[in-house]
Amino acid sequence: MSPASILFIAPAQAVTKIFPRLKEEGFETGLAETLKGALAYIKKNSPTLVFTRPLMPGYSASDLLAEAQGDDAFPPVVIFTDQGSADQAQAFLEKGAKDYWLEPLAWEKIRAALPGDGASQTLPKAQAGAGLNLDIIGKHPAIARVLALAKQVAKSKATVLIAGGSGTGKEMVARYLHAMSDRDTGPFIAINCAALPEHLLESELFGHEKGAFTGAISRKPGRFELADSGTILLDEISEMDLGLQAKLLRVLQEGEMDRVGGTESVKVDVRVLATTNRNLQEWVDQGKFRQDLFFRLNVIPLRLPDLKDRGEDVLLLARYFVDRFCGQYSLPSLDFSQEAVDWLSDYDWPGNVRELQNLMERCVLLAGKGPITPTHFLLDDESWVPPEESEDIPEETARPLVGEAVENMLGGQVITLQEMERIMIMRGLRQTSGNRTQAAELLGISVRTLRNKLNDYRDQGLDIP
Ligand SMILES: Nc1ncnc2c1ncn2[C@@H]1O[C@H](COP(=O)(O)OP(=O)(O)OP(=O)(O)O)[C@@H](O)[C@H]1O
Ligand SMILES: [Mg+2]
Repeated sequence: MSPASILFIAPAQAVTKIFPRLKEEGFETGLAETLKGALAYIKKNSPTLVFTRPLMPGYSASDLLAEAQGDDAFPPVVIFTDQGSADQAQAFLEKGAKDYWLEPLAWEKIRAALPGDGASQTLPKAQAGAGLNLDIIGKHPAIARVLALAKQVAKSKATVLIAGGSGTGKEMVARYLHAMSDRDTGPFIAINCAALPEHLLESELFGHEKGAFTGAISRKPGRFELADSGTILLDEISEMDLGLQAKLLRVLQEGEMDRVGGTESVKVDVRVLATTNRNLQEWVDQGKFRQDLFFRLNVIPLRLPDLKDRGEDVLLLARYFVDRFCGQYSLPSLDFSQEAVDWLSDYDWPGNVRELQNLMERCVLLAGKGPITPTHFLLDDESWVPPEESEDIPEETARPLVGEAVENMLGGQVITLQEMERIMIMRGLRQTSGNRTQAAELLGISVRTLRNKLNDYRDQGLDIP
């Protein structure tokens, strides 16, 4: 049986981040940007689930839902958007959408939306919640303690304050808390309190009524309403101003909030998580943060240590990310040289786990057959010369290098010549921004041949630039 697949109708950059995770869970993924492409994919692959943006140039999810009308074999369609509104949600649900989500798309949410109960035989690897647990890497006692505590409080509705430096994994822990709770079928919504000016943050959090202020042309639900029955993550809570802090306290104490310009209170059932990379107690001492709110948020404090203080975890995480990226890019596995190990252990990691993750992705792409050495870390140093750009390589040896790069890319896998041809043709098109004549020239084929092949691809449901 071919693996279950999930189709995404969205711009590639909005969804491809989730693809490696889906692949890990055993799903094939499809991507389309047009109705025609989407319908062709559905016909050919019968995906388990379809995720679609509401609108894209030349595409509307309403048209897709119209196609689904009366077709029992049509897969369930979930609308996902980064700019949701209750009105739009209602309109799509009435047209037959299975659900309406706010981004980001996370695996825990997708799992819950799969037909069956999400943990049944539909899933190739059917352990609800277990995958995520494994993904938080670390053996250092401080991390083990955070995880044990998180696990213990996940099921309660207690507010959790997650403190730690930038890139230490605060959001990851928040998602873990949500995934391990009974609310995991509800939404997980994150909002960064530092990113918006005060009045915008207020209407973003609590929503506003029509006409509440200039520009409020319709009623808009706030993130708290959208997170109802789920979890809200208030990122960088220290940056919320004192007025809003009072309103937040009311939600925490009474489970009620007021929309901007509204006359009646709205009840919400939301679990609140917050993160900070400042010392909130100091903020309280300086009068910048309400003490009562601090107490309320700090019911369960979790503190993520800086990466440089996690001892051997640096190497554990480095190994984990290298393996993950090798898998993601279909490359053979890579070793570290002793110098690289020393370098990783000595470095300060100001950007913590995120910095390590980015650096390991770069190494995997640059190290060829390996081993990884410190030159792969120190790009600014200009000591690394990309093989393709070395000027003194004569033509005859330059070609085998390209061949070798392709070999490396495939990691010993054999794919069909047709598949290889398709990859090269798409690459040619991308490099020439879709210019058929230039692409044909690069590929060494006639424009006519190129057009014929593209027509075939289009019939197979691929989106052609
Ligand atoms: N222990 C861990 N194991 C595996 N991956 C991790 C771990 N900690 C963090 N990461 C990864 O590192 C990246 C940064 O983590 P995250 O976004 O949770 O950090 P953050 O503390 O919220 O950062 P910021 O302060 O910038 O908001 C993410 O891609 C996350 O998946
Ligand atoms: Mg974060």
